[in-house]
Amino acid sequence: MTPWSQDRAFVAGHRGLLGSAIVRALANGNALDPLVRTRDELDLMDQRAVHTFFRENKPGTVFFAAAKVGGIVANNSYRWDFLYQNMVIEANVLGAALENGIERVVFFGSSCIYPRLAPQPISEDDLLTGTLEYTNEPYAIAKIAGLKLVEAAGAQFGKRWLSLMPTNLYGQNDNFDLETSHVLPALIRKFHEAAERHRAGDDAVVKLWGSGSVKREFLHVDDAALAAISLLDSGATGLYNVGYGSDLTIKELATLIAKIVDYPGEIEWDSSKPDGTPRKLLDSKKIRATGWAPSIDLEDGIRRTYDWYRSTLAVPAGKAG
Ligand SMILES: NC(=O)c1ccc[n+]([C@@H]2O[C@H](COP(=O)([O-])OP(=O)(O)OC[C@H]3O[C@@H](n4cnc5c(N)ncnc54)[C@H](OP(=O)(O)O)[C@@H]3O)[C@@H](O)[C@H]2O)c1
Repeated sequence: MTPWSQDRAFVAGHRGLLGSAIVRALANGNALDPLVRTRDELDLMDQRAVHTFFRENKPGTVFFAAAKVGGIVANNSYRWDFLYQNMVIEANVLGAALENGIERVVFFGSSCIYPRLAPQPISEDDLLTGTLEYTNEPYAIAKIAGLKLVEAAGAQFGKRWLSLMPTNLYGQNDNFDLETSHVLPALIRKFHEAAERHRAGDDAVVKLWGSGSVKREFLHVDDAALAAISLLDSGATGLYNVGYGSDLTIKELATLIAKIVDYPGEIEWDSSKPDGTPRKLLDSKKIRATGWAPSIDLEDGIRRTYDWYRSTLAVPAGKAG
């Protein structure tokens, strides 16, 4: 078999947070230019188009980083969309990969596949041992279906495909839309806009959902991309957690981001709003044993992300939609 880096890799979801990091990492590692398609060029919901694309392009490797993704509000509000779209995309891409004999597939799920009250840190063996968090259950079920397809491709057809379950990711190309974003980029935007208002003479207060006491783990997306590439290099197969190795409370995260963006004001917590799963720290021993380790410290990673946000997206306070 050709070394995978000499094959053309298809990066599904290349404009997203993780997909774009994989494209950057492949470019840095001198792999061949990846195959990429925008949603307009190839809608992964369209089974016929996906199968035609695989037949015509025969990628050697697939980084499957396309999905309908969102934060707690989006997950809870658009329950049908998160379940239906993710199941269809997975069936189409993994089905086409199988039919076209693709040997190297990396499928990405997320830590929300594990039970709401899983023992901490959460190991790969905790999958399907308890009840899921209700707010993101449809997304989690779709992702579990995806990793079970990967597992079944191994059991029935001998495919040595990989499933990676990263913890919460952040970094360049993150989604900063407050309707659909995850907590870390949402906090960066809220604190940035409040800091701007302070500088304009307004004593803005940042109001945040929940109690702030739940704990979360955050990994820079460039580290997640390198994890996928190094696992492919090692010839590994199966399910791997990919985490930073330590977590912090949302209150601690908010304080850190307030410091980074130089927000001088108060923070108010609305405890009547849901918190989500109390804690979600991944046990990443299995991937650590392969030699991978995160290289970007949380504070440094947030500073880089904030610099990127400021230089590309931030608009003056009052104009942000
Ligand atoms: N972000 C996190 O914190 C996190 C954590 C753990 C795991 N993950 C996993 O990593 C993967 C990628 O997440 P992400 O945060 O990078 O998401 P993202 O930024 O929303 O990117 C998702 C990408 O998928 C594409 N896509 C969605 N539906 C499509 C369709 N029907 N046809 C073609 N393209 C489609 C999107 O295209 P458009 O650009 O056209 O929208 C986008 O480029 C997901 O499987 C997610 O579960 C993410």
